[in-house]
Amino acid sequence: MSKTKIVIIGVGAVGATTAYTLLLRERADELVLIDANQGKAKGDAIDMNHGLPFLGKTKVWAGDYEDCRGANIIVITAGAAQKPGESRIDLLKRNAAIFESIVGEVLKVNQDGILLIASNPVDIMSYLTWRKSDWPASRIVGSGTLLDSARFRYLIGEELGIDPRSVHAHIIGEHGDSELPVWSLANVAGTRIAFDEEQKARIFESTRDAAYEIIAAKGATYYAIALALDRICTAILRDEGAVLNVSTLLDDYHGVSDVYLGVPCVVDRTGVREVLKLEISDSERELLHRSAEKLKGLIQSLEA
Ligand code: NAI
Ligand code: 2OP
Repeated sequence: MSKTKIVIIGVGAVGATTAYTLLLRERADELVLIDANQGKAKGDAIDMNHGLPFLGKTKVWAGDYEDCRGANIIVITAGAAQKPGESRIDLLKRNAAIFESIVGEVLKVNQDGILLIASNPVDIMSYLTWRKSDWPASRIVGSGTLLDSARFRYLIGEELGIDPRSVHAHIIGEHGDSELPVWSLANVAGTRIAFDEEQKARIFESTRDAAYEIIAAKGATYYAIALALDRICTAILRDEGAVLNVSTLLDDYHGVSDVYLGVPCVVDRTGVREVLKLEISDSERELLHRSAEKLKGLIQSLEA
């Protein structure tokens, strides 16, 4: 059996927590940490190695881009993060410049892995990575609205007193301020969720603005996104065919094309195997179009 290797580029709050999550869950045989701050990557690798007597046999080391060779998954969590009051879009120019060099380095040594992007604004970073790579879009996967959908399901579950794992509800569109809740399809075991408008507005706003609240409180978000990234890695490594709301290139999705957005996708060892077309309402379709137009405008402004 060939060894599984995951590389994490950007070992800050999100990258380090993701590495630790993957380590605890023994997802890979080899885990490589790369950061512009080599001391941080080295320190984290030593620290995690000291935990191995309590765990399995994962090999963890601080590496360089050469270590992306042969990696099954390369997770990119590098770059600027929001400060309190900043939006994800405020990071666009800084992270686009950082990605230009990171993706170029990865592509020199890896042509058949899967790139999993988390840095923000994640949909645009994923799109730019796809454009630069020449790879099929299926192998450039953004974390998309998987985290937002988890927050949504958690909050709905709290309101109903139901385990969030039994709540089926989707946030789609941008991972950010223009995302939308698909209330028309939200259900528990096939039964519609009968919230009034006040409940719906409150739950969606708490979902959409969760990152602002957490960043204002403690400076960064990292635990839930680490679990979301672990979930995506697992679906890929185990060839699961799991349905996850990741960010992918849309091609006539309710009339939306040529932009990465979060929608339900079948994820397996090939990355995004299939995009599932939700039967959304007309008003949801309108919001999805607005989300797409917002991101397309930003991509154009970057290129101007
Ligand atoms: P952080 O500031 O703690 O870590 C960023 C790391 O990237 C630092 O260690 C830094 O040295 C490294 N870095 C910067 N430039 C680099 C380069 N050229 N090459 C290699 N490493 C480089 O930030 P944090 O909180 O970990 O966030 C990282 C990114 O993830 C941000 O863009 C943030 O907005 C995003 N994020 C995305 C989420 C999602 O749902 N997609 C959730 C949470 C954060
Ligand atoms: C989050 O939603 C900041 O995108 C990050 O937690």
